[in-house]
Amino acid sequence: MFATNAPTQPIAPDKIRPSVQALQPLLIAFRRQIHQQPELGFQEHLTAAAIAAKLTEWQIPHQIGVAHTGIVAMIQGRKTSFRLKTLAIRADMDALPIQEANDVPYKSQRDGVMHACGHDGHVAIALMTAYYLSQHQNDFAGMVKIIFQPAEEGPGGAKPMIEAGVLTNPDVNAIIGLHLWNNLPLGTIGVRSGALMAAVELFTIAIQGKGGHGAMPHQTVDAIVVGSQIVTALQAIVARNINPIDSAVVTVGEFHAGTAKNVIADTATLTGTVRYFNPDLADFFQHRIDTIVAGICASQGATYQLNYVKLYPPVINDPKITDLVKAVATDIVETPLGVVPACQTMGGEDMAFFLERVPGCYFFLGAANPDLSLAYPHHHPRFDFDETALATGVEIFVRCVEKYCN
Ligand code: NI
Repeated sequence: MFATNAPTQPIAPDKIRPSVQALQPLLIAFRRQIHQQPELGFQEHLTAAAIAAKLTEWQIPHQIGVAHTGIVAMIQGRKTSFRLKTLAIRADMDALPIQEANDVPYKSQRDGVMHACGHDGHVAIALMTAYYLSQHQNDFAGMVKIIFQPAEEGPGGAKPMIEAGVLTNPDVNAIIGLHLWNNLPLGTIGVRSGALMAAVELFTIAIQGKGGHGAMPHQTVDAIVVGSQIVTALQAIVARNINPIDSAVVTVGEFHAGTAKNVIADTATLTGTVRYFNPDLADFFQHRIDTIVAGICASQGATYQLNYVKLYPPVINDPKITDLVKAVATDIVETPLGVVPACQTMGGEDMAFFLERVPGCYFFLGAANPDLSLAYPHHHPRFDFDETALATGVEIFVRCVEKYCN
C-alpha cells in the first residue's frame, strides 16, 4: 500500500483499514501455507481443501469441485438497497512447473513446482476478503461471489467455470480481480480502462520437405530453408499488416530440424505465439499465417500442417467498473501518482473470459520491493513479492464491494 518509507497513518476515517490490517498475520500465514504446497493446473486438490476447510470453519457457504478443483464462496450482505447486485471476485490458484531457487522458510516443498506468479497471494487475498465480508455482512447489500479458479497458467480454468454456471444463480452483475505485480513497485496500483492484457494464440507449423545428401541439394526439398523463409516472412505481419497504432507480437519460439551436418532435413517444426489487444484482430493472425506458410511451401515444393490454438482473448476492462476501482485505488494510495494507468502488458490471462461475459476490471497490485530483493520477474525461480501488498489487496476488494453493492 505504501512505499516502505512512506507514512502509514490510515487516511480513511472508517474501520476498514484497521480491521483489514489486523488480518495481516493470517494473510501471510495462509499465503505461506499455499506457497509450500504448490499445485499445477486442475491438480489444486490440497489448495482447494485448504480453502474449503477455512470457509467451513467460518461458516461461509461454498461449492467445491467446480470445474474440477475450483471453489465458489458466497457471502450475502444484510444491508437493504433499492436494487440488490451481485459482485464476483476472482482469484486464480495454480502454480508453475519451476524449481524454486529462493531459500526461505516457506519454500516450496514440492520438487519442480513453484508459486512463481503470486497466485498463492491471490488465494490468500480472496480468502481473507471472504472472511472480512462474512464478519461485516451488515456493511453491504447484495451478494458477493468469491471465485477460486484453477489452471490459469494453462489450459485455463475460467472457461470451464463459466460453463459450470459460476456467473449465474444469482447472475453476476460485475466482476473484479487482481494480479500481484512485480512490474510495479509496492505502493502503486495499475488500473486501466479498455485493453489491459493481450490475446494469447499459439501455433505449430510442421513442414514436410524431402531429405537427402548435404552435397546434392538439387535432389531435395530442404525443410530448413523453407522454415527459415517462413520465420522471416512472419516478421512482416506485425511490421506490414497491422495498423501501427495497434500493438501485436508474432514470436517464433522453437525451430526444430535436422539430424547431421551433411544431411538435408526432410522436416522442420516451428512453434510460436501471437499476442494482440484489438478484439477485431481475432480472426486475422491465423488466416494470415496460413496464407504465408502455404505460399512459401507451395513455392518450394514442401507441404505443411498448421495447428493453431486461440487460447485466451484480450483482457478488456469495462470503463464504469474501472472508474470504481480507480476511485478506490486513489483513496488507498493517497496520491494519484500511485495509480498507474500505463500498465498494459502483452502477457495474457484467462480472466478475459469472465470479462467477455460481464463488465469488470482486472488490475495490478504493485508488489515489488527491490530493497528486500523482492523484485524478480514473474515466472522466475526466485520470484517472491512483498507480503504487505496482501492487506492492500483485501482492502481494495472490500472497498469495491461496499462501493458497488451499496
Ligand atoms: Ni499469474
